[in-house]
Amino acid sequence: MHIKITATILLFFSSLVVSATGLAVEISQAAMLANSCAGCHGTYGKSPGAIPAINGKSASFIVESLKDFQSGARPSTVMGRHANGYSDQEIQLIAEFFSKH
Ligand code: HEC
Repeated sequence: MHIKITATILLFFSSLVVSATGLAVEISQAAMLANSCAGCHGTYGKSPGAIPAINGKSASFIVESLKDFQSGARPSTVMGRHANGYSDQEIQLIAEFFSKH
């Protein structure tokens, strides 16, 4: 009886740990990538200064801007060099992150 209850409790807590870990990994990849933008564009893209705010812009606008900065189609001071570091998949994650804030 006692062993059975202990096993049930253990099973319950181990399933909680597994699902919590899965969630944390998913959130932190987008948040970690977006973090590299915060130094200039502000936390969550809410710019405190002269650099344009990027929070709440549509994901397609952010994707298009970053790809145009990468290719040089859109002239820039820093964004061309900064945007070069990201893959298409990473740009998609970053764009979705800021579009939701
Ligand atoms: C070193 C500072 C700096 C960092 C870091 C930075 N940006 Fe920028 N960003 C700028 C500046 C300055 C501009 C204006 C264009 C230019 O001169 O490069 C800009 C412009 C933009 C624009 C166009 C905004 C508009 O309204 O037209 C987008 C979108 C953008 N940045 C996204 C990002 C994302 C996403 C990241 C992180 C992956 C990022 N930026 C990191 C400085 C920065």
